[in-house]
Amino acid sequence: MNTTTIIVGCQWGDEGKGKVVDLLSRNFDIIVRYQGGANAGHTVEIGNKKYVLHLIPSGILWEHTICVIGNGVVVDPIVLLEEMNMLREHGINIDGRIFISDKAHVIMPYHKVLDSLAEQGENKIGTTGRGIGPCYVDKAARKGIKFSDLFNPDIFSSKVKRNIEEKNDIIAKTDCNKILYADSLIAEFSKLAPELQSLCIDSVVYLNTELQKGRRVLLEGAQGALLDVDHGTYPYVTSSSPTSGGACTGSGIPPTAIREVIGILKAYTTRVGEGPFPTELFDEDGQMLRKIGNEFGATTGRPRRCGWFDLPLIRYTAMLNGLTQIALTKIDILDKFESIKVCTSYDVDGRELKYFPSDLEVVKRAKPIYTTLPGWQEDTSSCSTFDELPENARNYILWLEKHIEVPITFVSIGARRDQVIQRAPKQE
Ligand code: GDP
Ligand code: IMO
Ligand code: MG
Repeated sequence: MNTTTIIVGCQWGDEGKGKVVDLLSRNFDIIVRYQGGANAGHTVEIGNKKYVLHLIPSGILWEHTICVIGNGVVVDPIVLLEEMNMLREHGINIDGRIFISDKAHVIMPYHKVLDSLAEQGENKIGTTGRGIGPCYVDKAARKGIKFSDLFNPDIFSSKVKRNIEEKNDIIAKTDCNKILYADSLIAEFSKLAPELQSLCIDSVVYLNTELQKGRRVLLEGAQGALLDVDHGTYPYVTSSSPTSGGACTGSGIPPTAIREVIGILKAYTTRVGEGPFPTELFDEDGQMLRKIGNEFGATTGRPRRCGWFDLPLIRYTAMLNGLTQIALTKIDILDKFESIKVCTSYDVDGRELKYFPSDLEVVKRAKPIYTTLPGWQEDTSSCSTFDELPENARNYILWLEKHIEVPITFVSIGARRDQVIQRAPKQE
């Protein structure tokens, strides 16, 4: 039976993808990251242990899973090896369970330097500083270094030399202290090569062969639909395709193999970095969401901007991703609110818009039109069935479901793996 499933963030990232991927991994054999890099911070809490994963799929915490970093990911080898060590230190056996596509691109130290220099200019994006944008620039410009290049010393050193020369010209114009030296960089990466080589596979053949054997594959998106380079709030986006379409190019699994697309939505909205955010709150409610929701970046520690749930945004991202199900997270963060607002449409110069506008200038002028729903002011974090939730919490969820027109099959009511309510499982 084909169960190939994509998990996709449907806001601006940090929706709780790590938690949901971990939860679902119980019933999957192979978990694949398909885009982004160590800009992601996916948190999984099991009992009193907390893991933040940046590159390795969040399914690694189950003993039976194989985790693959797909061709669409940009991998910082140093972060990857550190993350593997972190897992070993927690007593997780990762031997033979992590593979990297030979086509994944490598984040080089100069990518991180270029990322930070670009952020000092006028057109600040508020990036995570992990070198993501510059690495994808090189990939698209056909100058990038692929994982397979790391194991061919001649190709690797000629590519590094060519790139360093070009990058140093740019770096020297801003900060001569940040200039890099090819020889030391080649020597540093050569030391890492043997361990990395043991992880490297032709992931496209591997994944498709395993699918044919009936293995169950879960594709883990990073970031969120509104950070997609094509469909997000460009230029305030990341440089990859987090949306469900990107799962196919980023893994080499064809669209015909996909069965389900599960959208992860937070019960309110957050965003880190620059860019327009129509329902952003600057008042006490926004501060409450940040404080109760502990809305601080898992990768950079930056405070996340917070706002009410935005239906026009979700109408757009549900459509764009072809969602078949929704996992709604952080319902418990709303427990203390007397009333809860939801943006139902935008007013743009007197016109009512039902969908998130594609023109950034229009997004900037979009004024949310809100409806107010009653809060429940009860603790939801230990409820174990949908019926146990307070009536107004159930009504909030049902109201969202009715307006999004996609079934909400998971309701998350706490950070821990066991804090989840599964609703109306789909009939096979
Ligand atoms: P991701 O990037 O989408 O994986 O999300 P992050 O890990 O960056 O941020 C989500 C945060 O919310 C993490 O700290 C999670 O542990 C936490 N979390 C996830 N689901 C819930 C939930 O339902 N309730 C609460 N209180 N916390 C949650
Ligand atoms: P997860 O997977 C939230 C944001 C950055 C910045 C923009 C570009 O944990 O949801 P980049 O470093 O990618 O060039 O930054 O994208 N961003 C994220 N925001 N969650 C993430 O990942 C993000 N990854 C990147 O803050 O606005
Ligand atoms: Mg995150």
